[in-house]
Amino acid sequence: MTDLGTVAWPPASIRTGRLVVREPEARDRAAVVELFASPEVHTYLGGPRGRDDIEREMPAAPERRPGRFVVERDGAMIGQVTLTENTRHRCPVAVGKADLGYLFLPRAWGFGYAAEACAAVLGWFDGVLPDEPVVLATQTANLRSMRLAAKLGFGELERFHAWDAEQWLGLRSPVTPAGSGDVEGDRGRHGG
Ligand SMILES: CC(C)(COP(=O)(O)OP(=O)(O)OC[C@H]1O[C@@H](n2cnc3c(N)ncnc32)[C@H](O)[C@@H]1OP(=O)(O)O)[C@@H](O)C(=O)NCCC(=O)NCCS
Repeated sequence: MTDLGTVAWPPASIRTGRLVVREPEARDRAAVVELFASPEVHTYLGGPRGRDDIEREMPAAPERRPGRFVVERDGAMIGQVTLTENTRHRCPVAVGKADLGYLFLPRAWGFGYAAEACAAVLGWFDGVLPDEPVVLATQTANLRSMRLAAKLGFGELERFHAWDAEQWLGLRSPVTPAGSGDVEGDRGRHGG
């Protein structure tokens, strides 16, 4: 894929029906620490890191980079969605493709926020890099994540074993945007 670093960044904040999807800011720091330190969030991601280590290593403002979005609901950060180019991967087919990642605070699960935010990010991606496929990997045991992947239009490419668990690699075929890139109008297309 074309390097995400070549796209205009940051984009304007994306407003969906209930959320704002935007670049991280200093005011998000405490919520990002909570997200990274949460055992529940990391159940299928190899376990959490220690809060003290995270606090020590995280700069005053969470890292900003092309493809990293935080998700805000009623003025508070509730999660993050990332698109990262795979420079290496266990599955050769995933190398060079954009990889979708999502982490939400447990209190924000079960409301469709992750689906709404991911659909917005994928809509943005379709607008800036049309015709690019997106992959995502998740443990098959991570049922919430598996349901979300299906809702977003990802289909199974392959399963593989890594980190002592069965992993699922999904592919979302390229979607060429029809026009304005209006994310709210796009939500139905991605199932958000
Ligand atoms: C994976 C993860 C983002 C899924 O979050 P989620 O809230 O379950 O996902 P969605 O946004 O799709 O929400 C779906 C749920 O919202 C419910 N919902 C409630 N109101 C809704 C609405 N207005 N619109 C849509 N769904 C709604 C749905 O019924 C569904 O509930 P169910 O799971 O009980 O059936 C979350 O579990 C998480 O952050 N996990 C830890 C990180 C992780 O494992 N990431 C995967 C690695 S990439």
